[in-house]
Amino acid sequence: MKPLMRRVRVPSARVLQLTWNGRPLRAHEGDTVLTALLLAGERPRLTLGEGAPRAGFCLMGACQDCWVQTAAGKRLRACSTLARDGMELVSAQPGEIPCT
Ligand code: FES
Repeated sequence: MKPLMRRVRVPSARVLQLTWNGRPLRAHEGDTVLTALLLAGERPRLTLGEGAPRAGFCLMGACQDCWVQTAAGKRLRACSTLARDGMELVSAQPGEIPCT
């Protein structure tokens, strides 16, 4: 997919290596998981009904539109979670992460 974000300036922060659904995903220190996903043209989840890609909505931890999971099954909000080196993340299938 086409990236929904682009950097206006490349940060001097350290580059982090994560994985998304088993594929390499780069981030810079200080990026949220959602920033890394949208810069890479990825989407954090699909809608329950249509399976349409979602990209987050509020970007501040309030709407719950950006749930993703760690490879170990822990769910987290991509917009309010800082990327960490070595993170292994997977998208949730529609219906796997209920709204709470
Ligand atoms: S985008 Fe709204 S909670 Fe993450």
